[in-house]
Amino acid sequence: MASQSHSPAVPSLPFGRFANGPSVPFGARGRSVIMHAMRPLIIAANWKMNTTSADAGELAATIAARTEEPGVIRVICPPFVCLSAVRDALVGKGVAVGAQNVHHELAGAYTGEISAAMLDGLATWVILGHSERRRDAHETDELIGKKLARAISSGLRPILCVGELLAEREAGRAVEIVADQLRGALAGKDPEALVGAGFVIAYEPVWAIGTGRTASSADAAAMADAIRSTLAADLGWGQAAESVPILYGGSVTSANIGEFLGEPSIDGGLVGGASLKPDEMAGMVARAALVARTRAQDKGVR
Ligand code: 13P
Repeated sequence: MASQSHSPAVPSLPFGRFANGPSVPFGARGRSVIMHAMRPLIIAANWKMNTTSADAGELAATIAARTEEPGVIRVICPPFVCLSAVRDALVGKGVAVGAQNVHHELAGAYTGEISAAMLDGLATWVILGHSERRRDAHETDELIGKKLARAISSGLRPILCVGELLAEREAGRAVEIVADQLRGALAGKDPEALVGAGFVIAYEPVWAIGTGRTASSADAAAMADAIRSTLAADLGWGQAAESVPILYGGSVTSANIGEFLGEPSIDGGLVGGASLKPDEMAGMVARAALVARTRAQDKGVR
């Protein structure tokens, strides 16, 4: 469906083995230097309900010009009506375009909805299950799972968002909630198909979104480890869990992204407010490029 299913910078990883590295036994996860070096660094901009088709193209072009760094996958996800302007502005710039949602059916009587077929030629990525859609559009894990299946079959690279509410974290239930969200959306799905489609997970604690408050990098890394553990053990993904990039989202800025990327289990950011500011995007992508170089050196990749 989509004209290019992946950014050219993203090699799709063979299932069950890892580029430039030995295979890892079932259950191995987390902070292995061997594993994280093969996952890409990703900075994804979620513009939410901001920009218009009059200004989105120029903003995207400015961000693209300010973020030309090797080793980092850049994605911009504008509102649906700005997709064509952003796509046109990014031709040849090496920045992928993503949608913020997609319907699970391809066509039909769904007033106000957008299908994967409609995104063909406009977007190659899609954000799914964002907490704002769980909250405002009452999206359930089951529905998000259907959208995920549609994204994969349509050649869209999905970013699945998960994260707990503040009350859930305070009650010590954060890992349990996120594991439930993963099981709800992923149960019965073929890990090989998901990994082949470049499946990405974004951990976005709801209480950190738009609040200026972030998770600690240690808590975010612990959640990334728990997410891979859920995939590997509960969902039977085995070592394929290690090849899923996990992003942190929630009040990420150029000033704090370094803390998150200092954690080997975190592979980038899903950024809201700061992604509308070219200076901020420049800072975040520059830091991600530095981390990409360091991880490649640690791994012996030249
Ligand atoms: P903020 O970066 O504005 O907190 O938003 C995060 C987010 O929801 C990205 O999807």
